[in-house]
Amino acid sequence: MNIAIIVGSLRKESYNKRIAEFLIKRYDGKYNLEIVSIDKLPLFNEDIEDDPPVEVIQFKEKIKNSSGVIFVTPEYNHSIPGVLKNALDWCSRVDRVLVRKPTFIIGASNGNVGTARCQSHLVQVLNSPGVMALNMPSTHVLIPNVQDDFDEEGNFTNERTINYLDKIMNKFLKWIEKNRD
Ligand SMILES: Cc1cc2nc3c(=O)[nH]c(=O)nc-3n(C[C@H](O)[C@H](O)[C@H](O)COP(=O)(O)O)c2cc1C
Repeated sequence: MNIAIIVGSLRKESYNKRIAEFLIKRYDGKYNLEIVSIDKLPLFNEDIEDDPPVEVIQFKEKIKNSSGVIFVTPEYNHSIPGVLKNALDWCSRVDRVLVRKPTFIIGASNGNVGTARCQSHLVQVLNSPGVMALNMPSTHVLIPNVQDDFDEEGNFTNERTINYLDKIMNKFLKWIEKNRD
């Protein structure tokens, strides 16, 4: 089963990207997880939506071919990072590759509320008529103070969160099967 991961931070040393890489390693052999990069997407422009640059075509193709999408994102200024919103705007038009796509959200931040505000905005966008993704109910993985969750070698070490992620990944897989057309 191919599952796409969209990381909402372009930062090289992003904690969210490191958590996405942790997921890929931990569930290797069980799920085919892949980070689908949004780094090269141009800013959305309706003038070019019917004939977009190759980066957009390749990005949308990967999302279309996935059985589900996991968002792993920081919160920027109490909302969704602009780069992530841009990617969702591309997805919301023409072939609308997120329609009925099972998704869930993981978010890590330096602050105490662990991306809660970003996640509620993201759910709102996922529910919009253009995007119309399915978001797994009652599943918000909030990782506050993420800077404390890595050891000196850069390994993600928060056992409580890791156990929770194991449960959620299992639940997500079952939920995807349930939502197949
Ligand atoms: C532009 C900007 C806005 C931010 N706004 C918030 C915020 O609203 N809430 C929060 O908890 N952290 C905020 N932060 C801090 C991020 O949680 C922190 O930089 C985090 O490491 C970003 O995720 P990353 O490591 O995956 O890049 C902000 C950081 C930046 C660069």
